[in-house]
Formats: sequence, structure tokens, C-alpha cells
Amino acid sequence: MKPIIVANWKMQFTSEKTLETTKKLLELFKEEKIDPQKIEIIICPSFAALPQAAQLLKNKGIKLGAQDCFWEEKGAFTGEASPSDLKEMGADYVILGHSERRENLAETDEMIHKKIKAALLAKLIPILCVGETFDERQKGVKDYKIINQVTKALEGTEIKPGEQIIVAYEPVWVIGSGQAVAPEEAHYTAKVIEQRIIDLIGFSLTKEASSFIYGGSVDEKNIKDFVTGEISGALVGSASLDPDQFVKLIKSIL
Ligand code: PGA
Repeated sequence: MKPIIVANWKMQFTSEKTLETTKKLLELFKEEKIDPQKIEIIICPSFAALPQAAQLLKNKGIKLGAQDCFWEEKGAFTGEASPSDLKEMGADYVILGHSERRENLAETDEMIHKKIKAALLAKLIPILCVGETFDERQKGVKDYKIINQVTKALEGTEIKPGEQIIVAYEPVWVIGSGQAVAPEEAHYTAKVIEQRIIDLIGFSLTKEASSFIYGGSVDEKNIKDFVTGEISGALVGSASLDPDQFVKLIKSIL
């Protein structure tokens, strides 16, 4: 299985800056001979920049992801984005349940569960984010919290043959901090999550339909320690914003 690197550009760029950064990345990928056959690179810009980014990335082997979607396909839902609209714009992936949305927009596990179902229906691959806060960690409920988030998001979700989900473990307290968790911790958590997914969707499906990635202050120096064994890739925020730095990060696991 090829490594998966997801660039989460959050609300950091205007559309113009997204285009400039995407162009620069494509130039660097060419220069550095980064082969998309060997690595799944997924760029997640803002909703507004998706169509133009899709134009640039067309036939380049680099995938596009959205940062969220709504749980209904169509209707009177002012301000929301429908999964099939995102698919039509060129997205193949969608980040769901990011801690910034859970915190700032009061997204609940129930909402995330509905979004996962809607994303799968629209043939988007959900990237489900789970992770504990510092407080939860101090209280000793980290694993409980994560198992609970995975369960609530996926319980009762039918994963059909050919469908896929990615689960990203993102300890909330290390996101954007410049200090990742110890890699052993992420590897241990991968096992905890894998066990829960096996219990929820079955062993055979788990192996072919789910991947596990780590996110939280991943950079070009530490990525190698994470992306190995049961961890297939990384969800990268800050270190994906500068094209030179992002290319270095990618090269360090190729
Ligand atoms: P970070 O962000 O790499 O800046 O910690 C990761 C994320 O929020 O997905």
C-alpha cells in the first residue's frame, strides 16, 4: 500500500494563494521526480478554491480533498456543501470530524456519523479525525475517548466492497504546537483503533477498506518515525503550507 499524505490547508489561503501554492507544488513535484504512483498526495484547500485547484491538478495524479461536507445531498441548508457537489468539483476525499470543527462549531459524533454515511454514498473517501484533548489525557481517558469517537462515527455504517475509510489520530493538544506525540504512542493508538474497527466492520473488510494515519505537528524531520508499520500516512497542517517544506516532508518517506 502506498503512503498517504494529506495536506490540510484549513482557512490559511485565499483562492489566489491556493492556486499559487498548488502551481508551485506541481513544479517542485516535477523537479524532484515525485511519482504519484508511489505516494497518494491529497491536497485539501478551502471549499471556495476547490474548482480551480481541481483544474490545476487534473491528470497530475495528485488528489483533491474537501475539509468538510454536509450530511444531506440537497435541500434548504444554507451555507452547507453537499457531498456529491464536492465530488463533482473534483474531490475524492473529505476530512470529517476535525477537532477544530468539533471545538469551534460544536460538531458532535452524531453529526460526524451522518457525514461519513453521506460521504460514502457520494463516493468520497472520508478521513475521520479522532483524538483526545490535553485534559482528557490528564484524566486518563484517552483510549476511551478515541474508541468512543470511532464507534459513534462508524457504528452501523456499511462499508461496501470498493469503499474505503481513513482514520486519522490527531491528539488535539499537539495540533499546531510544533511538538508531535511520541511515535510509539501513535503506533499504540493505531492498534487500539484497528481493534475497534475490526469489531465494528469485520476483520476482512478492515484490512482492505481502512487505513490509519497520524496528524499533529508532523514535519519533515519526524514523519519517518510515524509513517511505518500500521501507520500508512500523515495528516499535515502547518508543514504543508510552504511548498519547499512540504516537498521535503514527502521526500523523506520515499
Ligand atoms: P498541524 O495540523 O500539522 O499544524 O499540527 C494538523 C491538522 O490540524 O490536521
